[in-house]
Amino acid sequence: MSYNLLKGKKGIIFGALNEDSIAWKVAEVAHREGAEFILTNSPVALRMGQMDELAKSTGSEVVLADVTSMEDLENLFNIASKKYGKIDFILHSVGMSINVRKKIHYTEANYDFYHKAIDISALSFHRVMKIAKEKDIMNEWGSIVALSFIAAQMAIPGYNDMSDAKALLESIARTFGYYYGKDKNVRVNTVSQSPTKTTAGSGIKGFGELYGFAEKKSPLGNAPALDCANYCVMMFSDFTRYVTMQNLFHDGGFSSTGLTEAIMEEN
Ligand SMILES: NC(=O)c1ccc[n+]([C@@H]2O[C@H](COP(=O)([O-])OP(=O)(O)OC[C@H]3O[C@@H](n4cnc5c(N)ncnc54)[C@H](O)[C@@H]3O)[C@@H](O)[C@H]2O)c1
Repeated sequence: MSYNLLKGKKGIIFGALNEDSIAWKVAEVAHREGAEFILTNSPVALRMGQMDELAKSTGSEVVLADVTSMEDLENLFNIASKKYGKIDFILHSVGMSINVRKKIHYTEANYDFYHKAIDISALSFHRVMKIAKEKDIMNEWGSIVALSFIAAQMAIPGYNDMSDAKALLESIARTFGYYYGKDKNVRVNTVSQSPTKTTAGSGIKGFGELYGFAEKKSPLGNAPALDCANYCVMMFSDFTRYVTMQNLFHDGGFSSTGLTEAIMEEN
């Protein structure tokens, strides 16, 4: 059922790789709610994933852009500007760490990989907003959301250097959000999502255990990707116009729960 929450709104969605991706679900819900958007991802993702399928079902154009390349991002925003004039929302759903992939212990990090993780997973958010602001592509009251994880606030072994990338991502949302709000009435937030079975999620060492623990520690259970998409779409809608510079937990209550009976019984 559609509520037409995004009727007439235009946007850019980063990070839909396959049907498990959080961005994939956001694209489907945004489409259902009346939005038009460009789907973007790295050239590798186009070869590995199923983006063409999503583009077809949502009537979207695919524009390839590596988020570490200013040139690619400039090109993406030029295409969006030509196509739509101004846009109303951006979803940043991008993350990658080679230290995580190669299961290199956090205390033994490879710094080239560390830089890459920070560049792709956090600095890219700044880069995207810098270009959007310079090109003045966002409509007033537009909304920008990036996806985060609670390892930005708490030590979670296995999340590795992505913890630091997420802490930086959330800080960028606050600081850029301050300037974007003041200058253009554009809001910027991060949504901190439960562990979710996706390509990026499953790469984390001990993901199965983390998923199971979070499920037990969350009064509502882990939040599914589709519900995360509904939440992101609400953040793009006009019903959240004064929410900005926040890290919003979408985690079934995990972040506010210290201990549960289920966990006590096990010990
Ligand atoms: N899965 C989880 O448990 C979980 C929980 C909280 C937050 N998140 C965050 O959600 C976001 C989306 O991840 P997901 O779980 O849907 O996994 P995913 O693997 O489906 O999405 C990650 C995306 O990042 C893209 N990407 C990687 N390098 C890129 C580059 N250089 N340029 C452009 N795109 C690039 C990938 O192609 C992919 O589409 C990430 O920021 C992730 O950290 C995930």
